[in-house]
Amino acid sequence: MACTCVVGLQWGDEAKGKIVDFLTADHHVVVRYNGGANAGHTVVRDGKTYKLSLLPTGILSPHMRAVIGNGVVVNPVRFLEEVHMLRTAGIPVNEQNLAVSDHAHLIFPYHVEEESLGAGAAIGTTGRGIGPCYADKVTRSTGIRVGELLYPDHLRERLRQIVPRKNAILSTLSATAKSFDPDAICDEYLGHAQAIRPFIKDTVRLLHRTLCDKQNILFEAAQGSLLDVDHGTYPYVTSSNSSTAGVWAGSGVPARNLTRVVGVIKAYTTRVGRGPFPTELDDGPDGVGEKIRKTGREYGTVTGRPRRCGWFDAVAVRYTAALGGADELAVMLLDVLSDIDAFQICTAYEVDGERTTDFPGDAFLLEKCKPVYETLSGWKKEIGGARKLADLPNAARKYVDRLAELIGLPVTIVSVGPDREQTILCK
Ligand code: IMP
Repeated sequence: MACTCVVGLQWGDEAKGKIVDFLTADHHVVVRYNGGANAGHTVVRDGKTYKLSLLPTGILSPHMRAVIGNGVVVNPVRFLEEVHMLRTAGIPVNEQNLAVSDHAHLIFPYHVEEESLGAGAAIGTTGRGIGPCYADKVTRSTGIRVGELLYPDHLRERLRQIVPRKNAILSTLSATAKSFDPDAICDEYLGHAQAIRPFIKDTVRLLHRTLCDKQNILFEAAQGSLLDVDHGTYPYVTSSNSSTAGVWAGSGVPARNLTRVVGVIKAYTTRVGRGPFPTELDDGPDGVGEKIRKTGREYGTVTGRPRRCGWFDAVAVRYTAALGGADELAVMLLDVLSDIDAFQICTAYEVDGERTTDFPGDAFLLEKCKPVYETLSGWKKEIGGARKLADLPNAARKYVDRLAELIGLPVTIVSVGPDREQTILCK
């Protein structure tokens, strides 16, 4: 029995969707355990591009059962939109192959409003109401879970208690804040409940049964480990455990069941939103940063924002690889670097004149870190057609080998383009 987790080791957008899609052949069930519709997962399959933000990308494989775990925050409108989009594209979605946890929390319109009134701006959030919804989850008295959609009178009563409190808070944040009517929200959500009802399940029991049946589970993390609310660059993080730390809490499957952790990294680094980024290339419209952004189409899947681009940071990835218990690395988007003369890899930081290879756990300390670089030569050659390591130019192989050496883990997958076939499996 295998339990594999595909986890991002940077600040998200590491192209995890492609690796999940690749690994589905060996698994039966795929589980999202954190985040919500703030994630953007793009998968190219048979020439078609699918963009999912809430449903696990593993659902694209017809044999897989997809599970949205209790650690996810669910916007029912997005959920139904994605179900509709997949069905329109000819992907079957039904209660047999999709389940949503009755214990996942629900995002309401007041969460989005609360975020738009300032709570998210300082961090540069995606504006999807994710933070306020998780805040209500831990506040407890104001959190509402998916399973409560099935009890209309109870849901109405809870919204009648909660929404006036929300309106009062919102009005103190801005005189022009929207005010919400609990009954109108309840009616709207009961409408969604009709469509979502068949998918709502006790997913913890479902996953325990999956384990008993000796079926293989694939965990699909959203965001990257540096955005983990406990272990990332706090406070510039998301509101969930986006590292493997979230698997247990967010799905009910004990972490000790994990048999394989695939750490996914880009061959460079990107970040969206605010927060320190030591290796950022802020070198103008003709600089390498812009070149990477253009070649790698580094614009947010969810918000369309240009991603900040920079060199590979081995200090940060060594930290997240250890944190997540990564067994191996998947190096993504290597082809994006094909037209660059020479690369820098950050191997250490300098802080107040001292050199360190320790990653600081606080954003305000990371701000002070200056990257110490090692330079490697580029290959200046198109590599999208490479199908084995031997097809890569020497300089590209050296680059991959050096990443493996610096992180201390084997590279098992190298991706040289968005298509499934543009993947090199390394021994
Ligand atoms: P939130 O998740 O919308 O609360 O945003 C918090 C931070 O996480 C912001 O910097 C976002 O840009 C970032 N973030 C959230 N989701 C993703 C993602 O899927 N990829 C990359 N960054 C993300």
